[in-house]
Amino acid sequence: MDKLTVKDLDLRDKRVLLRVDFNVPQDKELNITDDSRIRASIPTIKYILEHGASKVIIMTHLGRPKGMVDERFRLNPLAERLEGLLNDPVKKIDDCVGEQVKAAIEASSEKIVLLENLRFYPGEEKNEPEFAAELASLGDVFVNDAFGTAHRAHASTEGIAHFLKSAAGLLLEKEIRYLGEALKNPAHPFVVILGGAKVSDKIGVIENLLPKCECLLIAGGMAYTFLAASGKEIGKSKLEENKLTVAKQIFLKAGIMDKEIILPVDNIIVDNIETDNKRVLVGADIPADKIGVDIGPETIKLFQEKLKDAKTVVWNGPLGIFEKAAFAVGTREIAYFLANSSATKIIGGGDTAAAIAALKLEDKMTHISTGGGASLEFLEGKVLPGIAALTDK
Ligand code: 3PG
Repeated sequence: MDKLTVKDLDLRDKRVLLRVDFNVPQDKELNITDDSRIRASIPTIKYILEHGASKVIIMTHLGRPKGMVDERFRLNPLAERLEGLLNDPVKKIDDCVGEQVKAAIEASSEKIVLLENLRFYPGEEKNEPEFAAELASLGDVFVNDAFGTAHRAHASTEGIAHFLKSAAGLLLEKEIRYLGEALKNPAHPFVVILGGAKVSDKIGVIENLLPKCECLLIAGGMAYTFLAASGKEIGKSKLEENKLTVAKQIFLKAGIMDKEIILPVDNIIVDNIETDNKRVLVGADIPADKIGVDIGPETIKLFQEKLKDAKTVVWNGPLGIFEKAAFAVGTREIAYFLANSSATKIIGGGDTAAAIAALKLEDKMTHISTGGGASLEFLEGKVLPGIAALTDK
């Protein structure tokens, strides 16, 4: 790590501005339905307090309120959950910049302060230096623990680092360590599993990881475009027609580089994704009026065969429509198989993380990234502005 981390900072009596990514899912009543991102930043908050900081001033965005106050995106439910998880009082302030905020921070007897949603101000997403300077004026040092937002060059992730000494939090450091190691120095054999709906989301990852891995397993919605490109019938399954050429080029490149790309050899099909719950099995070709929704048993066996000697596995994207129990079998069987594997297992992407959590297999994975878009961009080999802006060691 060539950037400062929170462990390099003298935190004694400092007001520490901490950017986290508490952009958590909520139901219609605004109840938090998955607090793993909040839990993931608790070690950094505790570390800062245990090392003598006078205050930890926490900043996050929630949702996409488009630069104005929107009651649905207020952070009160987050403050409540954070307080419960920390077992320590949290002072929630209803704004995030200005003299009143400064005064409220100073007057607060609580050491932990949560500012209001940063995206209530247009300056946040526009990365306006004036807004970044206002945020910076609230603290003495800046710690960024928001890996999930590190791919955004926003005032609270990038701009602010121009005004204060800036360091990575423990979560950000951990994400960089695990994802970075998989890119730079993976133990071999290295197998990549890609799923999820869209080929377009994963092209950059394939381009970057294909030269580094031995084998790429493709399933989920994106597999049908690859199956079509390899000459298979895919029925009414989702086809990204404008990605057929890219898919063919990827096959060619894999051939030249002597890498394996494994596609489904059997499929579970339905007439209607919404109403059907029965698992109907076909081979690699899907009949003209059917839609593929999951991988079949032969594909599961084949994937397991390819994974059994792997020393590093990166998995991004579910292998079927896992939200429906009947079509979650492929995702579940591969997750259970990996749970018992001694490989370094790195899980990226919100849907895959949610599937692992639903199966209660979090402890069996080496690292579950808190980033969706950020982990994809990291795996694409892109420089993430929220990391690049931190102070060099
Ligand atoms: C995420 O959930 O991926 C991050 O919090 C970034 O959110 P955004 O896509 O709205 O910028």
